[in-house]
Amino acid sequence: NVRRSVLIGLMALTASGFAMAQQQPIVIKFSHVVAKDTPKGKAADQFAKLVNERAGGKLKVEVYPNSQLYKDGEEMNAIQIGAVQMLAPSLAKFGPLGVKEFELFDLPFIFDDYNALHRVTSGPLGASLFKKLEPKGIVGLAYWDNGFKDFSANKALKKPEDFKGMKMRIQSSKVLEAQMRALGVIPQVMAFSEVYQALQTGVVDGTENPPSNFYTQKMHEVQKYMVQSHHGYLGYAVIINKKFWDDLPADLKKIVSTAMEESTRYANAIAQKENADATEAVRASGKTQILDMTPAERTALKKSLIKVHKEAESRIGADVIKSVYKETG
Ligand code: LMR
Repeated sequence: NVRRSVLIGLMALTASGFAMAQQQPIVIKFSHVVAKDTPKGKAADQFAKLVNERAGGKLKVEVYPNSQLYKDGEEMNAIQIGAVQMLAPSLAKFGPLGVKEFELFDLPFIFDDYNALHRVTSGPLGASLFKKLEPKGIVGLAYWDNGFKDFSANKALKKPEDFKGMKMRIQSSKVLEAQMRALGVIPQVMAFSEVYQALQTGVVDGTENPPSNFYTQKMHEVQKYMVQSHHGYLGYAVIINKKFWDDLPADLKKIVSTAMEESTRYANAIAQKENADATEAVRASGKTQILDMTPAERTALKKSLIKVHKEAESRIGADVIKSVYKETG
């Protein structure tokens, strides 16, 4: 009888173990490097909210902003080994993974506006880039907008000559490196989380970012000028660990896909305004002077930078660049 009650006890324990296991949600850790109050930060939170409301406790998205969990240079490894399930790295950060073609988005003056960019992200080229991630154990879920970059420094950078000899922080993209070298800048690859301090201590003189990143990282405290150059684009690929995605039950996959579609629409609807508002916030701070670029100044900058397209052919592929021209043309 003792044996019997031990057996019953064990069975009850096992059953409650199963019940507990069933109650434990599957967790998606979604790590990113920017502030919550940015297009990416807001869209990631929106995605988490939608999934968490709809998954009936079976799936839970946890968002870790601000490089809390992983910095640039660590995130890609973290998703590949499954330490996190989702990321939304900038399109400029896929080179180290071996998918260099994403650097097409870094080409200076390649997109006139968001519409031209969307023709690429929502067209065959956008889809073919995602295909290239799969052998790396990664699935691309969506492209999220941020915006067009402005140069900043403690010096007013308006003419191409003004850039000569400056040290500037860049993301880990060879195309951005070529862009900076075309201006005589000494580029320095650095994690996003380290930029503020590097600007403050003078490790670098300047950088480039959309205004929303500039303002939310408080770069206006440590940069005297921001020039509205809009010379290039910065946006994101939202990605998920492939094995995790493949193993996710179909009902939960559907919830994720639908929430992703909705949060993508949201991200792309707010990005432009977020950046315009950030520009005004920088202006209102009175700390960074915002400089306009005259059409002639912009043309001169473009003239210095356009050769980067040709130089990038060996990196990105002449055919890829040609397709971008065709899709945006
Ligand atoms: C940067 O490193 O400047 C950006 O990629 C940060 C981001 O995620 O927007």
